[in-house]
Amino acid sequence: MENYKKIIDGKKYSEELLKQLIPLSSKFFKNFNRKPCLAVVLVGDNTASGIYVKNKVNIAEKNGIESIKIILSSEVSEQDLLNEIFKLNENQDIDGILVQLPLPKHISEKKIIHNIDPMKDVDGFHPINFGKLFMGDPNFIPCTPMGCFYMLKNELKDLNGKNAVIIGRSNIVGKPMASLLLSSNCSVTVTHSKTKNLQEHCKKADVLISAVGIPEMIDETYIKKDAIVIDVGINRLQLLNSKTNTSITKLVGDINFEKVVNIVKKITPVPGGVGPMTIACLMHNTIKAAYKNKKQNFVNILGDYF
Ligand code: GUN
Repeated sequence: MENYKKIIDGKKYSEELLKQLIPLSSKFFKNFNRKPCLAVVLVGDNTASGIYVKNKVNIAEKNGIESIKIILSSEVSEQDLLNEIFKLNENQDIDGILVQLPLPKHISEKKIIHNIDPMKDVDGFHPINFGKLFMGDPNFIPCTPMGCFYMLKNELKDLNGKNAVIIGRSNIVGKPMASLLLSSNCSVTVTHSKTKNLQEHCKKADVLISAVGIPEMIDETYIKKDAIVIDVGINRLQLLNSKTNTSITKLVGDINFEKVVNIVKKITPVPGGVGPMTIACLMHNTIKAAYKNKKQNFVNILGDYF
């Protein structure tokens, strides 16, 4: 198969999903005379976080969702951040709350996440939402694994009995991804930095999901023939443009695309793979939160599980 046919086009998937969401945000506006509203909280000046927040706010505005950006200094106290969360929890005109992670070291991420109203927790990080997901009764599903899962379901149709290997055990990606794949009857292996013989595990994967954050770490020695590979890594490399002598930023994934593309059946590129779907799923969760806020029925366009 020609290599370009192997690409799982996350941008196209996300555009299709966003197109389906527009009638839902329009209907909400007609019924309640306001748009679904997402509050995004950014603490400090982490460059990558700043870019993600800007993208989230831009995509929201293009898709009939109001967004409120709250930017706080990296020196804000934990209590002041909590007070912001309490205000957002109380505000009936705010449907979804997202606190961009990571937070500065002096603030407990756990404490902040635990204090977001679970019905506004569009990230799906609150223990109630996390627990519900693992019990097979999801409320809000974390956006990155949700986007990966949606693409996998569409590409593979039947996940029954597939060997799925996840690299990374974070609460944001690895653990919820494991739960989603288990719900579709995959046999799931979650690997991490202490895993022995990582290549041996990965070589058995019909579905490989990588969320390690090491640029192009995964090469052909990790890949089973005809595997479906999802690259969650977004790694920024600083390179020197020798002609202009200026520094340029290049985005690469965890997967060495050129080295594996001849072996895989399908693969997500970086950029243009998982990233756009993460944002589209955030929009989905925000509209879902808005409907729930107004005690309205929300018919999941992604299927029952979402
Ligand atoms: N930082 C990296 N990914 C995410 C995410 O999905 N949500 C939040 N809130 N922060 C992140």
